[in-house]
Amino acid sequence: MDIVIVADYQELSEIAAGYVIAHMKKKPRTVLGLPTGSTPEGLYSRLVEEHRKGGLDFSTVTTFNLDEYLGLGPDHEQSYRHYMQKRLFGRININEEHTHIPDGLARDTDRCCRDYEHLIESVGGIDLQVLGIGRDGHIGFNEPGGSLASRTRVVVLAPETVEDNSRFFSSVDEVPQLAVSMGLGTISDARRCVLLACGEQKAEAIEQSVEGPVTAMVPASVLQMHPETTLIVDEAAASRLRRKNYYRAVQEKREHIAQIN
Ligand code: F6R
Repeated sequence: MDIVIVADYQELSEIAAGYVIAHMKKKPRTVLGLPTGSTPEGLYSRLVEEHRKGGLDFSTVTTFNLDEYLGLGPDHEQSYRHYMQKRLFGRININEEHTHIPDGLARDTDRCCRDYEHLIESVGGIDLQVLGIGRDGHIGFNEPGGSLASRTRVVVLAPETVEDNSRFFSSVDEVPQLAVSMGLGTISDARRCVLLACGEQKAEAIEQSVEGPVTAMVPASVLQMHPETTLIVDEAAASRLRRKNYYRAVQEKREHIAQIN
């Protein structure tokens, strides 16, 4: 894993946007895997800004979101389709038909999950998967104790996740307990992963994911097995890492490599 420690949320969002933009420039038909939550909001704002000011073109980009609550339709304010529409899709020139999110109202959920996997495969797989991380180490809605090789399926949210996500609902009872999520196997198939974490409340999950053993009890630890994963974390989220020689910035890493060469 490549670890980049940044000063604050703004820098984290800038660098994450840089990864996405670089992928889009290199391959205009890029397939992006996307998360929701608080962490990627700054990244999405930067992409929108780059589209509006710099003409960043999303017309040939395809996206797959990691997850969706079961029982929430696209019009529900807390559905992830609604989130994506409001923060990104509705503000850029992406073709709506190229944006994919599991159907929270699917009657045949097994089929919905199978179709999602086939769809990802049919476009040649995900080029860049952006991820956030839960306090319990989840990525997507892959909670501790699942399979490290899991595919898209229906998952039960951990009580900690329900509690964390209740900040977006009027009460904890309104938070759906079930979701459809890409699996850890699905995520691991992406050609490149970028995991973003910010704030002290993520420090333990980051420490365990990076420096602990690979275990289903810390789902993000599966990324240790991924050959092209970068973690972008702020100082607070990095505060429990024991190794001290992680790069302080992408630039620092480039300079180091240049010196060696
Ligand atoms: C949601 C998702 C989750 C979040 C995680 C962190 O699509 O993939 O794994 O990334 O729960 O959420 P925030 O960023 O709100 O702390």
